[in-house]
Parts: sequence; structure tokens; C-alpha cells
Amino acid sequence: MSILTPTPEAIQTAARTIRQGGVVVIPTETVYGIACDALNKDAVMRVFEVKGRPSDNPLIVHISDWDMLEMVAQDIPPLAKKFAEKYWPGPLTLVLPKRPEVPMETTGGLNSVAVRMPRHRVALDVIRQAERPIAAPSANVFMALSPTRAQDIDPEILVEVDVILDGGPCEVGLESTVLDLTDDTPRILRPGAITRADIQAITGRPLGLNPPPDVRKSPGMYRRHYAPNARVVLVDALTEGQIGLSFEEPANPQQIKMPDDPIAYGAVLYTALRRLDKPETDTIFVQEPPDEPQWEAVLDRLRKASASLR
Ligand code: TXA
Ligand code: MG
Repeated sequence: MSILTPTPEAIQTAARTIRQGGVVVIPTETVYGIACDALNKDAVMRVFEVKGRPSDNPLIVHISDWDMLEMVAQDIPPLAKKFAEKYWPGPLTLVLPKRPEVPMETTGGLNSVAVRMPRHRVALDVIRQAERPIAAPSANVFMALSPTRAQDIDPEILVEVDVILDGGPCEVGLESTVLDLTDDTPRILRPGAITRADIQAITGRPLGLNPPPDVRKSPGMYRRHYAPNARVVLVDALTEGQIGLSFEEPANPQQIKMPDDPIAYGAVLYTALRRLDKPETDTIFVQEPPDEPQWEAVLDRLRKASASLR
């Protein structure tokens, strides 16, 4: 394992490693991902093992151009093209009917495949040079916080992968919006930087219920997810002695003042939680952001982080 600056040579090494069935960590604009050849089921199984992820929780397939989409998805609805034109490359994942060439291991046994075209230059270069679609779940162990900087990648993952590309801090900081286009009514399976309003502006009608009534459609939607080791408790306001995140001036060194803009908040949320998540920290208190549409993605992650393990 080696952590490399993403020079052209390092990108080539990562792409070659993927072509040969290896597993590498790459930066994307959302979070870091553990990447492998999406069509190689042994490599995909290794990714599941590295993450300690249940095999029925499908991976997102990353592409660098429209032709690659047609390698993994079929019966692509015209709506998908509209979303791609507006938001690709970018933090929007589309769930579409899968082609038979995509192994069931990649899609967790589903007949659909989740696809996105990332906009991070390093991710795009790796996919282009590997010349194949790349499966990449977030580079965290199952249920933990996704890393948004190379130094935040769990040592357990570092030792298991072949190459790590350090592309600096991720610009968006929250995982992509996942939008299911396999039904007549599009449905958000995971809120993200591309908001419900952005999506409705393209569909021209309200989206399906979230979460969907059919739980098999959203295998990754566990109640607890995206969590630090400390307990997370949402509150109206922090008291002076509490450790946590708030919108006010910090009352002690273990309080972090968060941005009052949701995009800026999302970009620093995971690093802020990590900074406070020390072994001796029992509880991280978080002042609840306003329950408004533009906060949907942040609120989703905070509610999942604060859900008790059951
Ligand atoms: O921003 C991102 O999407 C990052 C970066 C690395 O691209 N990736 C990421 O992957 O967050 P992961 O594996 O941690 O989350 C994938 C989510 C899960 O909630 C999973 O259940 C859902 O996408 N998903 C994947 N394939 C699906 C499918 N066929 N149907 C429904 N949901 C799917
Ligand atoms: Mg994840």
C-alpha cells in the first residue's frame, strides 16, 4: 500500500491496478471511494470484504462518458439523458435497469445498477485510463463516516488496498444524491448536493415517497449509518460544557462553529465530527439545522448518525 500524489504516473498505476483486478482508493468530489473494475466479480467481492459490507448492499458504478453508461445500463429512459446533460459530471447517481454484463455481486443481487459520472479530475482520469466502469463505495468501514480527506481513511482499509491517490479535501463532502429511475415515478433513495428542487425542476412533477414502500429497492438505507464512534445527539442549542457542533460562537475548545449555509455545512460536516470523535468522547451534541428543503441532505446524515443501533 502506498499513498501517492495523483501525478500522471500515479494515475496510470492506479488505472493499471484496476485493470488487473486490484483495489485502489480514489478521490471524488463527494467522498473518497474504494475503486475496482465493476465488471470483475472477484475484485468487487474484495471491496465488500475490505469494507466489511453486507453483500446485498449494492455499489455505485462510476463512468467517464455516455458510452460507458451503455456498457452497464439498458432501457435508459429519456429522463436519464436530461439528468446527465444537466448534472454529469457531478454528485448525482442514477439507478437504471442493468445490463447482464454487470455481475450480480456489484449490484447486490438487484437487476438495477446505480451509475454516476464523478467530476473530480483524478477520478475521471483513472476511469478513462482504466477504460472500464469502476465500482466505488465510500472508503469507510461499514456504517462509519465516509472519508473526505486521504488522512481520514481508516487504517484497516489502508492496509487492504493496493494504491491510494491523495486528491486533497473533497469539495462536496457528502455522498451523491441517489435517484431511482427504474419506476414511472422517480424517487430519491439518498438525498445529496443535487436537491429535491433541482430534480423536480427536471421531472416537472413531485417525486416518489422517501423512503420507498418497497424496502428491497433501497438496501443501503439502514437507519443508522454515517456515524462516528461517539453517540450523536441532536439538540436545540449546546450548553456551555458540551462537546459538539453549533451555529453559535464556541463556548469551549471542543465546540465547532458550523457554517449557516447548507452547502458549506455539508462540505465540513464529516471532518468536524471526526475532529471531535476522540476515544474519550462519549457524546457529540449537534445543534439541529432548520428543517428546510435545502438542509435535506445534511439532516439525513445527522439523523442517521444519531439513530441508535438496533
Ligand atoms: O458520492 C458517492 O456516491 C460515493 C463516491 C465514492 O462516489 N459513493 C458512495 O457509495 O457513497 P456507497 O456504496 O457508500 O453508497 C451507495 C449507495 C448505497 O446506499 C446503496 O444502497 C445505493 O447507493 N445503491 C447502489 N446501487 C443501488 C441500486 N441498484 N438500487 C438502489 N440503491 C443502490
Ligand atoms: Mg457509504
